[in-house]
Order: sequence, then structure tokens, then C-alpha cells
Amino acid sequence: MSKPKTIFTCSFCGYQAPKWIGRCPECDQWNTFYEELQKEVDKKPAWRPDTASAQPVALSSVAVNQENRITTHIAELDRVLGGGLVRGAAVLIGGDPGIGKSTLVLQALARCAAAQMPALYVSGEESLRQIRMRAERLGALPENLLALAETDLSIILEEIKKTKPVLVVIDSVQTVYTADLESAPGSVSQIRECALRLITHAKSAEITLLLIGHVTKEGAIAGPRVLEHMVDTVLYFEGDRGHPYRILRAVKNRFGSTDEIGVFEMSGTGLVEVANPSELFIGERPEQAPGSAVVPSIEGTRPILVEVQALTAPSPLAMPRRTAIGLDQNRTSVLVAVLEKKIGMTLYNQDVFLNVAGGIRLNDPGVDLGIIAAIVSSKLEQPVPARTAVCGEIGLTGEVRAISQIAQRIREAERLGFQQCIVPHHNLKGLASAPAIQLRGVQSVAEALDQLFPALIKKKRSRRDNI
Ligand code: TYD
Ligand code: MG
Repeated sequence: MSKPKTIFTCSFCGYQAPKWIGRCPECDQWNTFYEELQKEVDKKPAWRPDTASAQPVALSSVAVNQENRITTHIAELDRVLGGGLVRGAAVLIGGDPGIGKSTLVLQALARCAAAQMPALYVSGEESLRQIRMRAERLGALPENLLALAETDLSIILEEIKKTKPVLVVIDSVQTVYTADLESAPGSVSQIRECALRLITHAKSAEITLLLIGHVTKEGAIAGPRVLEHMVDTVLYFEGDRGHPYRILRAVKNRFGSTDEIGVFEMSGTGLVEVANPSELFIGERPEQAPGSAVVPSIEGTRPILVEVQALTAPSPLAMPRRTAIGLDQNRTSVLVAVLEKKIGMTLYNQDVFLNVAGGIRLNDPGVDLGIIAAIVSSKLEQPVPARTAVCGEIGLTGEVRAISQIAQRIREAERLGFQQCIVPHHNLKGLASAPAIQLRGVQSVAEALDQLFPALIKKKRSRRDNI
């Protein structure tokens, strides 16, 4: 009898090789290759969306029941989910080890259970005693919160059918296995098959399923890519292990927007929601220090004041460093070039380091002017004027372009006691009422810098040399 054909797959990224390898060439993880039967890898998922019909029907005649949202009683989590969990939906939560995924879901589950919603926590990583100890520490031990320490899929499904919970957490999807496949637990075919069966059951029984997933070194959810396609929502829990702040972000959401963020702080008794992130992100700002600028940024629908920090230093390298943490690297290179060309600032021999305080990542183009202000402030060794916020998008010709939701940004700056805000000139027209904060509209980077660093810029310009 011929030997069945096998293949080796990396359980982290799904890379396939004909023979065993110690270190994956794709994701650089060690010891992640599992032998799998080729026929199991090639197996087509037998999954169909729930209530799929064989014949096309008029979309207008499809019956809908009111979108049935379950609140998790954690406002920041609800916000990221688009207003709470949807019945029958599958949510995948990824994040680095130790970031707080288990803590977050256990807190949410406990609050739901306390609100008379039967919930089941399935853990393949921790024992029941460990879960209980954690729940005690979180002050979350309601009567009807069920826990199960199990990794066998058939037993998990049986228990779900028996206990009929509304909410089920699988912590983590990588630990669950089915005996129907010969591949080892954690292998790509196992993860795919188990997730599929769990999701199919959840959809048919209207159970909300929360799957916790491991991530690769690059930060993508480990295992088959198809996992992200199968679920309705993918959330990432991120943050620096060194900082207590954690940010929850949706990267896919069939039931809401993907640009909302939830902000948490890890405390001795679990995760605490941060309702006022602005105060947190600019709280430790050194007053009157060069190289720091405050920007009212928009994250999702919410304005957040953030501090952009820059440090320029003479570089010993032929190719000076441009390092940006929390900002887009390409974007910052463009802004450095704008400063070189349009303002005549010498930066080609300088290392430029940028950082957003608090470990948050910004994608909002409105922070451009803040980056410029921080770099110039550091280069000139002159602080941005006190109680001044800046915002605006920068174009390649050095123009300051209008940005979205300006009124909200201004209101947030005003609320936190800022007295002056540099804004794009084109945004001034759209403002309905005059705010108490002093607004200065600018059309170009040069104009903005004149406002922020009047003395030095003028002096240098009259001498006609580079700054
Ligand atoms: P955990 O939820 O186990 O992380 P994950 O499931 O993502 O791997 O979180 C573990 C970390 O959180 C651990 O380093 C300790 C910290 N922590 C607190 O600081 N306070 C707490 O109340 C809890 C439960 C955990
Ligand atoms: Mg965990």
C-alpha cells in the first residue's frame, strides 16, 4: 500500500513545504511545522451562510428581524463592535500574548452573565482553577457564568448544545481540535475545520461566538487566512506591554464601521475603560519642551487629542534615519521632504525620530501639520507656544489642506483648555459658530510656521540661510 501523501504546514502563517523545517522561512517562527495529510489540506470547506436557499429570491422580500444587539456592558467594546454584539455573529479577537485578550472577554462575559445572559467560557489554555482565580481578581463571578476547560471540539459542541448559552468564548481557537482529522492540534486544517464547525453551529443556533486567536510575529492572526473570511468581525487588541494602555481596533466588521477604537487601561483589577482618552494621551506632556505638538485627531467618530513628539539630531550615517512610531513611515518622509524643499530646512544630515505618546497609532491625515510642527520645534530648539493645538493635512506643494470634522476637533481642544488652534484656512468657512478658542487659519506650511515660531523663522529668513 502506498504511503498517503503528506505536506508540512506552518501553523502560524500557513506556509507549506514538502519536508519538515525547523524555522519557517515566511514568518521566522521556530518549530511550527506540522505534518498534514494532503487530502485534509485540500478538503473543501462544507460551509454555507445560514439560511442559504438554493434559488435566488427578491432581496426586498427577504424577512429581517430587527438587528438583535447584545450589549457587553463594556462601552468601549460595544463602540468598536458597532453598538454591541450581534446574535449569531462570530467575532475573532487577536493580539500579542499577555496583552489582555482573556481578561477582556472574561470581563465582558461576566457582565453579560450578571445581566441574566447565559454565557459559556471555553478555555483550552487555562485550568478551571486558574480561570476562577482570574475571575475573582476581576470581581466577576456571577452565578450563571459557565466555564469549561476542554479542547476536544465534539465535547465543546455537545456542551454548547446542552447548556444553550447566548454567548460562547473559545480561548483560543488554536487549541481546539477534532478527532476527525489526523493532523495535529494547531495545524492549519484543524483550525479551519474547528472554526468552521463552531461558526456553523453558532449561526444556526443564534449563538454569539467570540474566538480568541494567536498572532504571528508580524501581528496577523495565526493560522489560515481563511479564518478571517469566515468570521463577521475581526478585532485586534494592541498596545505596548510597557504601557498600561490598550487599544481595541476593528479591522473587519460586517455590522459596523472599522475605524472606531476602544481605549482601555490595564489595572490591578482588570481592564478599565478610558472614557476620556485625550486626557490620557496628553496627560504626561512636558510643558514648554521643544519637539512636542498637540493635535486634535479623529479616531473613528471621536476626537482625541494626541501628542506628536519629534527629535532631530545630527546623523553620523550617510543615510540618516527616519524612524516613526505610531505614524506612517512614508508619510513622515514626505513631510520631511516638504520641510527641506519648501522651507529650506536642512534635514538631510539629521536623524529624525517621531513618536506618538501613549502607544496609539494614527492614520488621520489631519496630524500632518502636528508632525511638521514637532520636527521644526525640535530642530529650532523652540517649543510650540503654550496651549496651542495644530491640525491640517499637508500637500506636496506645501499647502495646508482642509480636513474632516473640524468642529469636533476644535471643541475637543477647547474642552481640554487650549486657547489657540492652528487650522487649515479652508476649514474656517464651514464653521457655524465662533468658538471661544482662538482660531488661526493658515494656507501653507510657511504660514503655519510663521504663526508658531515667528521670531526665529523671520530672523533666519532675513539672513537668507538655511534653517
Ligand atoms: P491575559 O488576559 O491573560 O492576556 P492574553 O489572554 O492576551 O494572553 O492578560 C495577562 C496580562 O494582564 C498579565 O501580564 C497580567 C495582566 N493583568 C493585570 O495587570 N491585571 C489583571 O487584573 C489581570 C487579570 C491581568
Ligand atoms: Mg489568554
